[in-house]
Amino acid sequence: MFLSLGWLSAAVAGILSAHILQKTCFPYLWKDLFFLLKVMRYGVKLELYKLRSEVCTVMDRFIQQAQLIPDKPFVIFEGQIYTYRDVEQRSNRLAHIFLQNTNLRKGDCVALLMNNEPDFLCVWFALAKIGCSIAFLNTNIKSRSLMHCFTSCGAKTLVVGSDVADLLDGFLSTLLEDNIEVWAMKRSFEHPQVHTLLDKLDTASSKRVPAVPRTTNIKTPTLYIFTSGTTGLPKAAVISHLQSLKAAGGFWAFGGTQDDIIYIPLPLYHSAASLIGIGGTIELGATCVLKKKFSASQFWKDCRKYNVTIFQYIGELCRYLCNQPKTELDKVHKVRMGVGNGLRQDVWRDFQNRFGDIKMCEVYGSTEGNLCFMNHIGKIGTVGRSNFIYKLLFKYDLVKYDMVRDEPEKDEHGFCKRVLHGETGLLLSKVSALSPFFGYAGSKQLTEKKIMRNVFVKGDAYVNTGDLMAEDQEGFICFRDRVGDTFRWKGENVATTEVTEILGLVDFIQEVNVFYFYVSRVAAVIVRPDHHFDGKKLFECVVQNLPGYARPLFIRLQEEMEMTSTFKQQKFRLVQSGFDPSNISEPLFVIDYKLESYIPFTKTVYQSILTGERKL
Ligand SMILES: *[C@@H]1O[C@H](CO)[C@@H](O)[C@H](O)[C@H]1NC(C)=O
Ligand SMILES: *[C@@H]1O[C@H](CO)[C@@H](O)[C@H](O)[C@H]1NC(C)=O
Repeated sequence: MFLSLGWLSAAVAGILSAHILQKTCFPYLWKDLFFLLKVMRYGVKLELYKLRSEVCTVMDRFIQQAQLIPDKPFVIFEGQIYTYRDVEQRSNRLAHIFLQNTNLRKGDCVALLMNNEPDFLCVWFALAKIGCSIAFLNTNIKSRSLMHCFTSCGAKTLVVGSDVADLLDGFLSTLLEDNIEVWAMKRSFEHPQVHTLLDKLDTASSKRVPAVPRTTNIKTPTLYIFTSGTTGLPKAAVISHLQSLKAAGGFWAFGGTQDDIIYIPLPLYHSAASLIGIGGTIELGATCVLKKKFSASQFWKDCRKYNVTIFQYIGELCRYLCNQPKTELDKVHKVRMGVGNGLRQDVWRDFQNRFGDIKMCEVYGSTEGNLCFMNHIGKIGTVGRSNFIYKLLFKYDLVKYDMVRDEPEKDEHGFCKRVLHGETGLLLSKVSALSPFFGYAGSKQLTEKKIMRNVFVKGDAYVNTGDLMAEDQEGFICFRDRVGDTFRWKGENVATTEVTEILGLVDFIQEVNVFYFYVSRVAAVIVRPDHHFDGKKLFECVVQNLPGYARPLFIRLQEEMEMTSTFKQQKFRLVQSGFDPSNISEPLFVIDYKLESYIPFTKTVYQSILTGERKL
């Protein structure tokens, strides 16, 4: 009796102290373990598919769901409900139209230029069903970049949404000259060479497309998603079935269920909305509310109307919501979780104070990357969470980065140096069989550029994420900055080199150096000898060729570009001197949409920006 009691109290004491130890030293142990087990279970499921070569794709999963829950709403768009069966049948019809009227076959690539609408999904699924890969084109991109997108993914066919006239504004003839076959989501179209889809829908069969062996390998490309990388024009990131399956597990890993209503206000041509949002909805068998465009004033009304429980965001979106006038209804909704990235600490706090205890799950990972962090704890200001088990599964490192020379620091043997806990470093992710890097379509060079070799030992290979991050003692990972030639603006990566190329088209410009200073895009420009600066001409070129988010707000004239010892254009000092006109001796111009020009940036203009009178 005594013995057993002694044993019992010892055990209780043991459990208690273990509990206290766990609480103090490993406060997140159970949450971490639970989350990792979940992620690993999903991983094992995927590995089993691979082993049994019984390939299951997100498309297969959708067809399965359409049989299991045909009458369940899949997409709600502008108040209209589309069930799983609706989308299944409409995509079958489209697939039959493509099979009968085109030479498209398994393995061909088709470009899709469409704004958010249910038919985006129907066309995507239809093409997937006949075994084509699909390239999602950004509806903001302008002519030059768009033509480049076709060549890089090898697409010969384009499907355009019903607003085709706006989307193809001015360069339809170029496409047709290049023998691109154009299909529009319309009943009829004035241009005889453009094929139409809607008029053929009614007579097309809604039967399942004969099961062509859709895929033979889980690693074959299924999508091309364009990203602005660190250099040049948009690049087509290759998305394999494996990657889309992994992304589709996101909501589920954060605790989503089939009862969730998921709000998708982001553009479908980006991986967040298509892979995580739509893929995730399919994986759960849930319902999504798809928005044509995000609207800050509509957001909460929609959430209340449709009983939304999960929403997707980018950081700016939450900021816009916080800037809306306060109402008594701010906390009246069923939203329990947000999934996205780029949420700043201050906005995060404001958002939760104002709209209630919504768990914000940051996901870090680029479209083309082979590494992903998920902040399943919901700690404010962090993009992800790491621990020793995670490090066994995902090999990544933070290395010291020289901001002035704009490159990683090296030791005497030419290898990179790891940072200490809490220090900021460049995030590198190891390329291995477990986390392969699929790279970009059409260019080995681009893919190779993203890879760093001989990083810590001879022969190793890492993907350079281009992101500066820090990891604290507890394993929380914070995003600090982007390096090199990209900046993020309204959720888009903007390659400064693309902006540079466009500005270089203007005749009076000799040399350009684009950089960003906080949220303002600045281009330092050298005017050719015997030429003068023409704000109107520059404005015209910029508006014609660059999407709104990439246009430089300021133009700074310089006599000569400052060079570093490595002859890289020197951005660092330019960034330091900022944009206060009293601090800059060289002429400075600011974009003015009313006057359709770049106008001199005077003290008065500066003051009106500070007071909020003038918006940038
Ligand atoms: C939202 O939930 C309420 C209460 O649970 C219910 O009465 C209402 O019908 C739901 N609305 C929709 C669009 O499902
Ligand atoms: C002016 O530029 C210097 C660096 O050249 C910087 O340290 C300082 O903060 C700037 N002042 C203002 C008001 O922006």
